[in-house]
Amino acid sequence: MKGGLMAALSENVLTVNILLSAFFLPGIYANSCGGKTPLFIITTPKPTAALNGSCLNVPCSFTLAPGSTGFDSSKEIRGAWIKDGNDIYNMNNGVSTNLVKITGNLSQKNCSSLFSDINTSQAGKYFLRIENDVHKGTACSDPLQITVE
Ligand SMILES: *[C@@H]1O[C@H](CO)[C@@H](O)[C@H](O)[C@H]1NC(C)=O
Ligand SMILES: *[C@@H]1O[C@H](CO)[C@@H](O)[C@H](O)[C@H]1NC(C)=O
Ligand SMILES: *[C@@H]1O[C@H](CO)[C@@H](O)[C@H](O)[C@H]1NC(C)=O
Ligand SMILES: *[C@@H]1O[C@H](CO)[C@@H](O)[C@H](O)[C@H]1NC(C)=O
Repeated sequence: MKGGLMAALSENVLTVNILLSAFFLPGIYANSCGGKTPLFIITTPKPTAALNGSCLNVPCSFTLAPGSTGFDSSKEIRGAWIKDGNDIYNMNNGVSTNLVKITGNLSQKNCSSLFSDINTSQAGKYFLRIENDVHKGTACSDPLQITVE
């Protein structure tokens, strides 16, 4: 079902198959954390280029940061991408799901996302926020950077 959907979209989906660097270097984007310790760390291709007018399928996964207590899988896990320039700790600032849908199963730490109808105004940095009952966090240390060509 999902495979069929992706195949149907493949004409205008630019799938990025960049091998991800195995190690994330903490501190590179430390400024966006403002001294906070991120609850989790995401892995996405960096940076990610999209064509104006296309869709962009971004593979994404996350791991809990050392010291985080894990998720309560009996409670709902919600996620949203928040664009740079907004309060990245407020879920209500998430980009509309019409523009970006999290297609991965967050319970499986899969935050793969489909950005639709990309245009130049969508270029920029996006931070993933995840909320699971009392466990709430923003991947402040590693934004997804989208460039539009
Ligand atoms: C991007 O596409 C939109 C329509 O989809 C068009 O109006 C705009 O001029 C294009 N921008 C560039 C930089 O090509
Ligand atoms: C993550 O979810 C996407 C979208 O459903 C899927 O295509 C991909 O195979 C999943 N990745 C993993 C590692 O399970
Ligand atoms: C997501 O993953 C969890 C844990 O593996 C599973 O219980 C749940 O059914 C999955 N949800 C969907 C929509 O596939
Ligand atoms: C770019 O996308 C945004 C969000 O969908 C939309 O509001 C805007 O009108 C689009 N701009 C162009 C030139 O298509």
